[in-house]
Amino acid sequence: MAASTTSITAIYPGSFDPITSGHLDLIARGSRLVDRLIVAILRNESKRALFSVEERAEMLEQVLKPYPNVEVGSFAGLTVAYAVERGANLILRGIRAISDYEYELQMALMNRRLQPGIETVFLMAGETYSFVSSRLVKEVASLGGNISGLVPPLVEQRLRGRIAQRS
Ligand code: PNS
Repeated sequence: MAASTTSITAIYPGSFDPITSGHLDLIARGSRLVDRLIVAILRNESKRALFSVEERAEMLEQVLKPYPNVEVGSFAGLTVAYAVERGANLILRGIRAISDYEYELQMALMNRRLQPGIETVFLMAGETYSFVSSRLVKEVASLGGNISGLVPPLVEQRLRGRIAQRS
């Protein structure tokens, strides 16, 4: 049987406020499975973020330099609409624990209803990072806890700077 030549472009949507080592682990593994991976930051005006979308994009660009088939984008509105706009045929999401599953399943089924041609693929988060979230990292950092290794070093630096500015 001839090998398929269809190229796979995936989008990995999220808030990335900021990118954590868990996100990075997922991107590293996801990037090996697809031809092109677009890390897509949601522009969500209703959610108060620590970093602007531009700051988040800049951090992602820096951290993702070693991955030649990974690019960074941002979008407002529906994830599936952005996927179509970027020619993506797959949505990548990570599952850390069973508690993530229900929300992720709902989103995946809604996205499939909205755009049946686009599949959601889940990767299991690396066990080292299964407890890591942007929300917890921000909380721990703002309370003076050690977040080293939970986010890339550049992000740790930026987090410390932002928290110092705010206090
Ligand atoms: O990292 P997050 O905050 O868990 O990511 C959530 C995200 C961005 C994937 C989700 O909120 C989303 O897709 N928002 C875009 C709006 C949308 O498409 N809603 C319908 C999906 S069910």
